[in-house]
Amino acid sequence: MSGKTLKSDLKKVLEDASKLIKDAKDLSELELFRVKFLGKKSLLNSFMKSLSDLDGEQKAKAGKSLNITKTKINDLISEKKKVLSNSDVKKDDGFDPSMPGKESSIGSLHPITKTMNYAIQIFESLKFECVEGPEIEDDFHNFTALNIPDTHPARAMHDTFYLADNNLLRTHTSSVQVRIMDKENPPIRIIAPGKVYRKDSDITHTPMFHQIEGLYIDKDISFSNLKSIINIFLKSFFEEDELKIRFRPSYFPFTEPSAEVDIEYIDSKGNKNWLEILGCGMVHPNVLDMANIDSSIYSGYAFGLGVERLAMLKLGITDLRLFYENDLRFLKQFQRT
Ligand code: DAH
Repeated sequence: MSGKTLKSDLKKVLEDASKLIKDAKDLSELELFRVKFLGKKSLLNSFMKSLSDLDGEQKAKAGKSLNITKTKINDLISEKKKVLSNSDVKKDDGFDPSMPGKESSIGSLHPITKTMNYAIQIFESLKFECVEGPEIEDDFHNFTALNIPDTHPARAMHDTFYLADNNLLRTHTSSVQVRIMDKENPPIRIIAPGKVYRKDSDITHTPMFHQIEGLYIDKDISFSNLKSIINIFLKSFFEEDELKIRFRPSYFPFTEPSAEVDIEYIDSKGNKNWLEILGCGMVHPNVLDMANIDSSIYSGYAFGLGVERLAMLKLGITDLRLFYENDLRFLKQFQRT
């Protein structure tokens, strides 16, 4: 072993050691490097052993160089140990900067809200203005002004939640018709979406559900105008030009004539069925007169749509109650619709 080769060998060992020690990921990796560079089987140790082959002065010189290298590597290891142990303490504190972050889940609108927004968008494109009315109503706006006087049997059909002071939870959005006619003069062309309440609960009824009311009052409004707007809306909503729509004669105290509208759908067994989705008709002259709108000059049509029914058909849901159980597995299916 010559002095020159030893010097360059030691330089190389020190270089290799500094690089690896600097990049050590944790304490156990650092220990592996300590064994590699300073342990019994290390290059430095083998150099130490071969010192006995050298004579006096050469031996002293080589021994000194070896010791210097050994000390340098030892120092590098101790310093790195300090750095790594500090970050280990942090880990014990519960903070580990290398952990992936927690995924935060993004909320989305409820399928009923989305259905309602979609329907509103279509009516707005047909020049209906969207308005709102109160959910806590009084008897007059929910019934009397809609040609349903105190003793009228239709009151019994509504399964009303009554509140104190002659107030109630509105049973339909038709009450908003009255509020708008109180405030504005014809032409009136509005829709009023919102929650309504009835004491009712089974596979097709929930105590709270949503309706969209429509009202158009002007001169010369006819039943064929009503039919046309309903046809346009439904075909556009279901994106189906061939949609089968049926107007059935019906009765509502606030419209004359009145109709219910069904659409044809195919159920999971492949059978064709009709589902009722809205009530409509020509606004009853009594309703116009009670709102101080001259029924000899003006006429109008009105309709009330069941939003849950629309959503069930559009999304293929058979049990209405699923919408209100708040099961995230159900709701998440509609995140992107
Ligand atoms: N208010 C009725 C209901 O809840 C629905 C309705 C029928 C609304 C006919 C209307 C209408 O505006 O003209 O059952």
